[in-house]
Amino acid sequence: MILTGTLEITLSKPLPSEAINDMPKIVEFLNEDYLKRGARRVEDAATITEFNANLNTIIMKIKTGTKVRLDEASLRVKNVLANSMGNKYRIGIRKLALKDVKVILDTKISISLKLPFIKGITEANGKTIIELTELYEDDLKRPLFLRLMQLIEEKEKRMKWGGKAEHWVLLKNSDIRIQKPITMDPNKILEEIGWIKRMSIGQWLYTPPLTHLLNALKKLFLDEVVKPLGFQEAIFPKMYPLEVGLKTGHLKGVINSIVFASLPKSYDLSEFEELIDSMYVMDSIEPEDLQKYLKPPTYFLCFAQCEPFYWFFENEILDDNILPIKWFDMSGPSFRWESGGIHGIERVIEFHRIEVVWLGKPEQVIEIRNKLLERYEYFMDKILELEWRMAWVTPWFYEQSGVVQEEVKSINIDVPGTIDFEAWLPYKGPREDNKNWLEIGNISIHGTKFTEPFRVKHNKGDILWTGCSGFGSERWLLALLAQKGFDVNDWPKKFLEYVKASPFPRSVISVSYPRTKEGKELLNQVISKLNW
Ligand code: SER
Ligand code: ZN
Repeated sequence: MILTGTLEITLSKPLPSEAINDMPKIVEFLNEDYLKRGARRVEDAATITEFNANLNTIIMKIKTGTKVRLDEASLRVKNVLANSMGNKYRIGIRKLALKDVKVILDTKISISLKLPFIKGITEANGKTIIELTELYEDDLKRPLFLRLMQLIEEKEKRMKWGGKAEHWVLLKNSDIRIQKPITMDPNKILEEIGWIKRMSIGQWLYTPPLTHLLNALKKLFLDEVVKPLGFQEAIFPKMYPLEVGLKTGHLKGVINSIVFASLPKSYDLSEFEELIDSMYVMDSIEPEDLQKYLKPPTYFLCFAQCEPFYWFFENEILDDNILPIKWFDMSGPSFRWESGGIHGIERVIEFHRIEVVWLGKPEQVIEIRNKLLERYEYFMDKILELEWRMAWVTPWFYEQSGVVQEEVKSINIDVPGTIDFEAWLPYKGPREDNKNWLEIGNISIHGTKFTEPFRVKHNKGDILWTGCSGFGSERWLLALLAQKGFDVNDWPKKFLEYVKASPFPRSVISVSYPRTKEGKELLNQVISKLNW
């Protein structure tokens, strides 16, 4: 990437000839030294390619790389000139204008013409030239230029790594456990026997029997994994102001999957009179009509579930006494608008999860992750007796914030990244085929991905990292049912103990529910096994 522009410096009075004679020396100092500072390679720094001084204007053509950018170079030029002209000739700098600004890229990229400062974009011979409008000193001091560069760099990376950026490397897997795979889809069974009922796309009501199983599994996970490691429960909001998503990156990375919320325009019920009248008479409501009564969305619904944790510590200064901080939240659902592949309780729009979060110095964060990893393995292997595997994958926090990660060349799990836990779903097909495995949970260390934008600080200036882990309740239960089936005699001992800890709730059986004869028969079979 090359940046070029013409810097026009307006002085408080015309330059005397001695000052004009000084110019080559000043430019030499800038080119040889000051404009090269902070960049290892010359092409990453800045160079004045032409200059001209006339009356009270100095004009310089500047060419830069991305380490000492055009904006930074312009401000450095101003500093040096202000010093030398000010001291020697009592001449001040009135105005700084950067004209004919061009960003020249070796790739073809598209960028919104609606962005402030963008004048035009042309493409030729595989290169893209972005022309900016004139910029003044105040514009140069704002990080807009930097952010534009970051946007361009991200877009370039996406072009380069695009589809192949996803990585998946197996870290560990269980022994082969299942001898006689169950071929029935538990999602279908649950719906047929009426334990779940679809309210709308990707959204279900779980009746008491299924809720009982989910609760047993969650409690087991808390007792075996979360609580022994000293995590404490907190309650996080499930509807977040937009600014939070700007900082976590979600609004940039996954805006197409987010569910938003709007407030009513007025609190005065009489303002809704027309709409209410219409509902009385028509007995229907059109979303388009409703929209007229709503403000634009100002919230987004819980997506990653750990966002409020980072928000809570925003601008806080933490000392060693409080670190590490270890919390978990299981107070409500997460929402993801998934366009395709929605299936049963396996892939839904509204789901439930135990979100485990921690914050500390890098070594603390890594140690906590390692302990969790150990407990997770024990939980999958010894408690649930699953066929499982874990893999080093594209970090969710890059994926969800639209950051493209370059090729992963070696595996070092002590750097920011994500480990996924997966379970084999026999009903989908052979274990040898990756598409028959389901991600049931993950565990990550984020480095400073969140402590930086939320400015979470340590009193002695130490670096702070965060980590999080998501236990997707529905998916864990589904994996268990897919591998063990609905006969409680085949369920893992410890899980069964938790299920039996309180009476099993009644299933809904009525004239019309479950809907089919087969469903009713199947339900009776399942219930008969629950008679312990
Ligand atoms: N927040 C993490 C995720 O969204 C873990 O739940 O994947
Ligand atoms: Zn998280």
